[in-house]
Amino acid sequence: MVKRPTVCIFADFEPDLVAAIEENCRVRFVDMASPRVHQLAALHNAQGVLLNPLTPADTEFFEAAPRLRVLSTASVGYDTIHVAEATRRGVVVCHTPGVLTAAVADLTMVLVISLARRLFDNERYVRSGGWARGDPLPELGSDVGGKTLGVVGFGRIGQEVTRRMQGFGMRTLWYDAVADPHPQVPASRYRPLDELLRESDFVTVHADLNDASRHLIGAEELQMMKPTAYLINTARGGLVDQRALTEALRGGSIAGAALDVLETEPPAPDDPLLRLPNVVCLPHIGTATTETRRRMRELAVQNLLAALAGEIPPAIVNPEVVTGDW
Ligand code: DGY
Repeated sequence: MVKRPTVCIFADFEPDLVAAIEENCRVRFVDMASPRVHQLAALHNAQGVLLNPLTPADTEFFEAAPRLRVLSTASVGYDTIHVAEATRRGVVVCHTPGVLTAAVADLTMVLVISLARRLFDNERYVRSGGWARGDPLPELGSDVGGKTLGVVGFGRIGQEVTRRMQGFGMRTLWYDAVADPHPQVPASRYRPLDELLRESDFVTVHADLNDASRHLIGAEELQMMKPTAYLINTARGGLVDQRALTEALRGGSIAGAALDVLETEPPAPDDPLLRLPNVVCLPHIGTATTETRRRMRELAVQNLLAALAGEIPPAIVNPEVVTGDW
């Protein structure tokens, strides 16, 4: 009888998804609150891992899992996974693109409009009794129609945000580190990053985080933005130099920011960014809808089972591993 592969689950998955894995595999749940040494010990004979985006898969992780064949994360971002190490060891890395595009684009759209219309200031005004006391209203907002949106990173999510904001009458520009990302949004214009930053009223970031893109938006880039412009980040905190952003917001070199992601998550309670009046911070909720999170977990399981069955998984990060005698 063929021995069933062992799969370690570092995440909360619904019983039906776990049952689908158990049809062909032995499942081991790893307590994510347990010390790392215990988590690593659980990997000793694992051939598959279902990962959450908060658990780093570094060299030590791979060393603890010498039999690993597939690492499937329930996230599109894989910046916490040492992909080169996985590839060197022949481990397939999979992620969940596509199924979360609309959810992240929706949140980005809400943030652009909320900043423009000063939604958060007005909400605070009512909640703190300003209206009841007859205090002056917060400053007026601005229309988004006719304003320029600069989209930094023009993959699936950047293009979906562009489509949505064109629907609100915005002029849209894009920049991507990949020279030709095959954009599907014809009415958007390419600009080099510095020109995009100078021209845009709203800059929204949608790139992958890697060594080349870390601090893509730093002090110099923030200086290029208009003093009336806003920055939105629903991608990864490390794309923006948070210290430089704090200074830019404090000094008024940009008007404000809306951040669903931070360089350190969760932030320290005394993080100066959290005390600035012109920043809105959310707790990384870009994909946080019931339907989207379910689709992400389904795709993560499909990826895992396909790879364990020797098939090419639907969403693979390092396809070079599945060539040759795979
Ligand atoms: C993703 O899928 O990468 C989201 O940011 C959730 O971590």
